Amino acid sequence: MEMIREYADWFYLIGAVLFILTLRGLSGPKTAIQGNRYGMIAMAIAVLTTFFVADNPVVWMIVGAMVAGAVVGIARARTVPMTQMPETVALMHSLVGLAAVLIAIAAIIHNNKLIELGPDLLAANGVNFHEMSRVHLFELFVGCFVGAITFTASVFAYGKLAAKKWAKTISGAWVKPVQAIIFIAMLVFGFMFFSTGNMTAFWAMTALALIFGWVWIAPVGGGDMPVVVSLLNSFSGWAAAGIGFTLENNMLIVAGSLVGSSGAILSYIMCKAMNRSIINVLFGGAMGGTAAPTAGAGEQVQRNHRSGSADDAGFLMSNADSVVIVPGYGMAQGRAQNAVKELANILKEQGVTVRFAIHPVAGRMPGHMNVLLAEADVPYEDILEMDEINSDFPATDVVLVIGANDVVNPAAKDDPTSPIYGMPILEAHKARTIMVIKRSMATGYAGLDNDLFYNDKTMMIFGDAKKVVEDMTKAINGTGH
Ligand code: TAP
Repeated sequence: MEMIREYADWFYLIGAVLFILTLRGLSGPKTAIQGNRYGMIAMAIAVLTTFFVADNPVVWMIVGAMVAGAVVGIARARTVPMTQMPETVALMHSLVGLAAVLIAIAAIIHNNKLIELGPDLLAANGVNFHEMSRVHLFELFVGCFVGAITFTASVFAYGKLAAKKWAKTISGAWVKPVQAIIFIAMLVFGFMFFSTGNMTAFWAMTALALIFGWVWIAPVGGGDMPVVVSLLNSFSGWAAAGIGFTLENNMLIVAGSLVGSSGAILSYIMCKAMNRSIINVLFGGAMGGTAAPTAGAGEQVQRNHRSGSADDAGFLMSNADSVVIVPGYGMAQGRAQNAVKELANILKEQGVTVRFAIHPVAGRMPGHMNVLLAEADVPYEDILEMDEINSDFPATDVVLVIGANDVVNPAAKDDPTSPIYGMPILEAHKARTIMVIKRSMATGYAGLDNDLFYNDKTMMIFGDAKKVVEDMTKAINGTGH
């Protein structure tokens, strides 16, 4: 036992390296399982070592809480459907935030109790006690308020994603000033606590941070929730790192910083791929604008498009050399992934090269398309990222767009007046023939008309994604050589 205490920092270092390997593993579908394993080992090392490092741990309480947590966690992991993953993640972040707040409160109460006992009594009992330093109070202040904001904001994000009635989006001119007042008041009380150690100020700061988390996220539109969830992931990491300083636990500092920085990087990548700034996502809703611009709807001019049947499309594709499938939100909405996999298989049997092109923000959450295609057992080597596939489009015979819209909108490249100008897109318009499956000429998430649908090379195939894809497969089967 003494030995583990002595070498605790070495164990933590091994844990930290394993956490870094975890993140590396999670960056690709092939290595993700191994990444998860590293994470589990790292967490086991971290938890076990902490048992030996802690002063007088109340073992039954900790083990009891761990068992209860494990039972709930395992049950939830086994039953949660893939479609409810975003809200489950949001709920998990709320627990990290809550833990940070509770640890900060416990640390302060503990410290105050020691002060009450008095230095003489403590010294007589061999307790080495120093009053909390400014640095310590600052760590508690930051850890607690970031944790409190993360907690209520994540609970709201969960409610919003799960379409709960209580998670109502708020709007109006009053929202921004109220946000500002609460935020400033929170900082003032936090500063008071930090400079004087005053407990009333601490409670006021915590309460205001809890309220702020809610009013800050409540105006954000539902479609922007994935970015918010990723940002809250980052916050939960920073809150944990802050508390790591309070508890003087190096492992928590490192793990918290890894979560904090990776969440921040993911939020940045998502915003960049949507051509939005993080400020616009977080405060856009409160300014009265909706998350998605609605241009185009009222001012649409009558334009011609060409439509065809699933049979025609199936025939054309089975005679092509190369087909690139671009899935989007409509594939998820229509639960068409298994049918799409069938179609890809049948085309491959006909000697066609079939690949999938994934845009980083296709769908409504990071990795949405990758998750669905993995669920349908599409081989990883057939799935290409935007940067890998874009240069191949001009030499592609057929690009089949399934329920994608904004991510293939050429206006992002050619129309400087478009709200999505500058957003990177999959350059499907460069393929020799373009086929688009969707139910109507309606706009996508960004509310914009799409020139791709009116392109001379484009054939629209109207209908629900799953039904159309199944019909295509049937048609190819019927005409197969
Ligand atoms: P969208 O631009 O939203 O277009 C999806 C299209 O699918 C719609 O035009 C819709 O047309 C069609 N559709 C819906 N249900 C369908 C069904 N059952 N069968 C066939 N078609 C169906 O999707 P996208 O191209 O994937 O782009 C994603 C958008 O979401 C981007 O603007 C992105 O910025 C935004 N966003 C993404 C994320 C992340 S992290 N992925 C987060 C927030 C926002 P019809 O109604 O005519 O069928």
